This record gives sequence, structure tokens and C-alpha cells, in this order.
Amino acid sequence: KKPAGAPDKSLARAVTKVGIVGAGLMASQMALLFARQLKVPVVLTDIDQARVDKGVGYVHTEIDKLAAKGRVSPDGANRLKALVSGSLDKAAFSDADFVIEAVFEELGVKQTVFAEVEEHVSAECVLATNTSSLSITDMASKLKHPERVVGFHFFNPVAVMPLLEIVRADRTDDATLATAFAVGKALRKSSVLVKDAPAFVVNRLLTRFMGEVVQSIDEGTPFEVADNALEPLGLPMSPLVLLQLVGAPVALHVAETMNRAFPDRFGVSDNMKKFVAAGKNAVWTWDASGKPSVDPEVQAL
Ligand code: 3HC
Repeated sequence: KKPAGAPDKSLARAVTKVGIVGAGLMASQMALLFARQLKVPVVLTDIDQARVDKGVGYVHTEIDKLAAKGRVSPDGANRLKALVSGSLDKAAFSDADFVIEAVFEELGVKQTVFAEVEEHVSAECVLATNTSSLSITDMASKLKHPERVVGFHFFNPVAVMPLLEIVRADRTDDATLATAFAVGKALRKSSVLVKDAPAFVVNRLLTRFMGEVVQSIDEGTPFEVADNALEPLGLPMSPLVLLQLVGAPVALHVAETMNRAFPDRFGVSDNMKKFVAAGKNAVWTWDASGKPSVDPEVQAL
């Protein structure tokens, strides 16, 4: 069934090579998914060789795990590994048809990255962004070809979560959007077209949900109580575990975006600001039996 709002699929362009800007966790998970499902070369870039090597190393390790589980054959694993490479030079994108960025969540950084990529790719190459909350229209505004920019928002863990939010910006053209839907289908995701609004749909809900839990801790609710209170709802993860999975810096960034957009509805947790400023990814840790405790270094902040 054609997703609501998707253009005719005959408008989609073929994708024979994928470029990924950023080689962090989301980017590396995406690289594996693109290589596995699209079976095309995927190039990861980042600002230094150590980051590029780490990203490619992550993909190779995950492929080894798939092979150990019998999900891919030994030959298949080697073929998959050969599809994923790293480069420091965006010229490696010159023959890519689809480039997606997953760099730091700041508009200026993303605009600069897209402007650099545009120097190397054809006028038809799709520029997709995995931003969690920023405006796709703003991201495209300084480009020569803003019509090729589209939001392509995955959820963590990328291999497992079925949803993909596809975001049409003010000037995104039908061929770009059709290509995004075709890629989403090839990745076996359930794609939905969402408006270019702060945090789109899912993060708007999740931010409120996780934010209220963390702010209730700021206000004095013991964290074990907050962590367990929602268990009877049968969620796959408690909000605090989810916060750790998403990563506190990302969650804080989205919360701040939402706070700017809707100050009457979205607050920003003081605790979260404190521990992210101290370079911590999460306050709470869980032992093997699932018992949570507060990171003593965070408690001392
Ligand atoms: N990477 C790859 N695969 C993973 C994984 C990971 N990090 N974590 C789990 N998996 C796989 C496992 O290998 C397993 O696969 P298999 O069945 O093929 O062997 C499968 O997922 C199920 O794993 P488990 O049995 O270990 O665990 P669960 O049944 O508890 O499921 C979960 C794990 C899917 C992560 C589940 O807890 C869940 O759905 N949690 C909620 C996740 C969520 O809400 N994510 C959205 C975050 S918001 C976001 O990302 C947006 C961003 O912009 C901030």
C-alpha cells in the first residue's frame, strides 16, 4: 500500500551508492542497514581518521555478530564488509545518489556539511538528514539545490525499529520524496510522511514523555519510583533506559529545541543539563539483574 502523501513511485531515482556524513553510532548503524538491504557501496566520512575507523570497525563487528548467529553466510559477511568503506574526503561521494548526514545536532553544522557535500555530488543526488528535531527547510535554505533535501529520521536501534519518518521540506521536490520512499521500502522500514515541524511527530511525544519523568526526579521523586512507575503499561523499555539508549546529549538537544518552539509545554530538566555539561551520557546505571543505581560521579556533581 502506498504510504499517505508519497508521490508516484515511478518518479524515484535509482540508488547505486550511498554516502554517510558522520561515523557515530546512528551513522554506523545506518551504514550496516543500507549495505545489507540495498546491497550497494556505502561510504562513511567524518572529521578525523579515528572516527572513520571506529565507524567502519563497528559495522564490521556487527557483521561478524550476524555471521556468528548464522544470519549471513561467511561469504555474505565478506561481501557485506567489502561494501562498507570509510573516507576523510567527501569527494568519495562524487558518484553517490543518496547522501545522508548524521552529524552533530546543530543547524549551522548541518548547513555547512550539506554545502560541502553539494560541491562533490551531482545535482540529482538526494541529500537526506537524520536530524531528530531541526527544521529541514532551514537546513536546505542555503543550498544551490534545496529541492533535493529530505528528512529521513531513523529510530534507535536502527536495525530493529521499523519506523522511518520522512520529512518534506518547503522546497523538496517529488522525485526526491519518491526516492526517499523507495529507499525506505528497500530498507524494509514503515515510512510515514510527516510535517517539517519541531521534532516531527515521534520525538515530540517521546521528549514530553521522557522529559516529564526526568523533571519529576528533579522535583524529588526517587528515581527508582520514576523508573518503575510506568512498568505496568508494558512499554518495551522504561523511560530512563530509553533515555540512556537515545543518549542524554541528543535527548537534551531535542528538549531544548522543543522548549524554544513550545515553551508553555516543554521544559528542560536541570539535572539533565548538569550531567550533559559534565560529559555524562546518563545518570542511571543498571546492574545485570536490572537493578538501577545512580552513577556516583553524577551524584557528586
Ligand atoms: N542493535 C542491533 N540490534 C539490537 C539492538 C541494538 N542496539 N538491541 C536489540 N537488538 C536486537 C536483538 O539482537 C534482537 O534481535 P533478534 O531477535 O533478531 O536476535 C532484537 O533486537 C530483540 O532484542 P532483545 O530480545 O535483546 O530485547 P527486547 O525484546 O527487549 O528488544 C528493543 C530490544 C527492540 C530495543 C526494545 O527494548 C525496544 O523497542 N525499546 C524501545 C526503543 C525505542 O523506543 N527506540 C526509539 C528511541 S527514540 C530515537 O531513536 C529517535 C532519536 O531521534 C532520538
